[in-house]
Amino acid sequence: SNASSPDIVWHEHAVNRESREKLHGHQGAVIWFTGLSGSGKSSIAGALEQALHQLGVSTYLLDGDNVRHGLSRDLGFSDDDRIENIRRVGEVAKLMQDAGLLVLTAFISPHRHERQMVRELLPEGRFIEVFVDTPLAVCEQRDPKGLYKKARAGEIKNFTGISSVYEQPEQPEIHLNGEQLVTNLVAQMLDVLRHHAIIK
Ligand code: PPS
Repeated sequence: SNASSPDIVWHEHAVNRESREKLHGHQGAVIWFTGLSGSGKSSIAGALEQALHQLGVSTYLLDGDNVRHGLSRDLGFSDDDRIENIRRVGEVAKLMQDAGLLVLTAFISPHRHERQMVRELLPEGRFIEVFVDTPLAVCEQRDPKGLYKKARAGEIKNFTGISSVYEQPEQPEIHLNGEQLVTNLVAQMLDVLRHHAIIK
């Protein structure tokens, strides 16, 4: 691949990460939400983004449903396709955090291995893994898109939690109880982000 070509050289530019972060007034980082379909990832990430924006933080939210209409429109839900989806999102998130943004991502990201891969792509301390811990039974009862019903009826194959694996994070930076009110969860997260010196 190109990565090993001796003809392609990595350039160091005069405007660097540090100068970009200074302009933004905060560090770049990735807040990586993971959890089952219907666990609340997108809603919580959206509410957190709104709160951060009001605090003057430069944010960007990468959301599974949206990315799968564009960047990953050629991918489905086999294990291989999910791995490629997360690899792409990880690389994009890496560029955006290097640009000085606080990036929020909301993908099921069911495999421990790919979440670890993204963690290792990023500078030390810039990957905040957030486990949205909502029991499968609760997600299935919410069923906002009617997908669990279809999965149970065998109309959707490889559905996470039903016919495809979800590996829970073992040591996430933030462990959220997905049954709590979103406003409480956002307040908890702001505290942790301050503790990690991601925001002031
Ligand atoms: S992954 O595993 O991280 O690549 O998935 P992601 O990109 O987050 O996409 C998850 C959303 O796609 C819808 N959907 C499915 N989810 C799980 N399994 C199957 N087979 C599937 N088919 C479609 C579903 O609406 C997910 O949305 P969320 O927001 O997570 O509920």
